[in-house]
Amino acid sequence: MTKLIEKDGQIQVNYLNSENQKFDVSQCGKIVAPKSNPKEVIESCLAVLDLIKEKRAPDGVLLDRTKISCSRKGTYKNGEDYDVLDKILGKGLNGQIVVVRDKKLGSEHALKTVMLAYFDSNEIRCWTDLEGYNNFPSLYMFNKQNGQIEFHYEILDKAVTISDIIDNHMLKMRENHELLRHFSLYVLQGLLEASSVMHSKNWLHDDLHENNAMLQAKPSSELKVRVLDFGRAKKLDKKATITNDIHQIIRVFTSVYVTEKFQNATDLQKNWEVKLQEQAKELQLSKENKDELLNLIKIALDVHLTEQEIELKEMVDCKLKDSLVENPDIMKEICKLIFPDYSLETDNVDAGSSDFISFNIFKIG
Ligand SMILES: Nc1ncnc2c1ncn2[C@@H]1O[C@H](COP(=O)(O)OP(=O)(O)OP(=O)(O)O)[C@@H](O)[C@H]1O
Ligand SMILES: [Mg+2]
Repeated sequence: MTKLIEKDGQIQVNYLNSENQKFDVSQCGKIVAPKSNPKEVIESCLAVLDLIKEKRAPDGVLLDRTKISCSRKGTYKNGEDYDVLDKILGKGLNGQIVVVRDKKLGSEHALKTVMLAYFDSNEIRCWTDLEGYNNFPSLYMFNKQNGQIEFHYEILDKAVTISDIIDNHMLKMRENHELLRHFSLYVLQGLLEASSVMHSKNWLHDDLHENNAMLQAKPSSELKVRVLDFGRAKKLDKKATITNDIHQIIRVFTSVYVTEKFQNATDLQKNWEVKLQEQAKELQLSKENKDELLNLIKIALDVHLTEQEIELKEMVDCKLKDSLVENPDIMKEICKLIFPDYSLETDNVDAGSSDFISFNIFKIG
């Protein structure tokens, strides 16, 4: 927030409190040569340095020593402590997510970097609250370096985004409506499971789209939906509803099931019935499947509270269980379709093993 004041016959801009950082966030994390108000710029820089000392605040926090080995100095630098490998996991608005190798431990992990100016500290608050739940990748360390925040975290090995699946596998899946229905419900269930964990920890994801959810192959033809990217996470206070997250989940679900990607929440709320009827007709869904889909969306659109979300998830759980009774091998078939190489290799794996098999980075296309 800024205020124009008159001083010594001249108009000056007066920056008010921390709000002034929003006025020119581009200088956060950089060295600047102030063109005006040098005293004010110096003071804002010193205020932060004083606060760091007062709070005894470190530059970063190591959360998992088994995955990251920092130097004795308490730093973790490219070339000294880790190497950036020639493997890119994906690309977001903030740049590439790369694979790095810890020099001492020899193990690999993911590195995402966000400019301090665009960083929201809730990303870390939320992520650390979710530690221990396998619906999300584990955060190993975060630190501030060169005006950026680095996230060192778990690689989702042998995993593809829902977006990749829509682009590369859904055409084939739609040839078999039994597979299509089961898979779509499976994705819905996985997203609801992850979101209900977040909501139980009082966080809203607020950015649940096809590129922020991945499907990971596990041994014995199991697939796991894993949710990423807490860059827009918001505290879920007592009065707030979870409607927005549910709308986003519905949009991913209809996109997977019947290729209907509603433009936004308004499009979904206004046009869901007409658009889904049309898509069901176009894809020649049976009357039973079409009615089930419409009924499910109707119920989901009425979900605003966490208890209702759990009821919805239980309903989807039941549908999946019934479908498995009808066709016990259905997940194997789905797995073969999305991860053809993986299913072949895992056919020999001990069915009781629940550990992930370590694969090289998987690339679609
Ligand atoms: N741990 C991981 N393992 C495998 N792939 C990953 C991992 N993290 C990210 N990716 C890939 O990178 C992409 C971008 O990641 P992420 O969404 O975290 O970045 P972002 O910069 O916050 O994205 P945006 O702001 O555009 O949503 C994901 O869609 C996914 O394809
Ligand atoms: Mg993202």
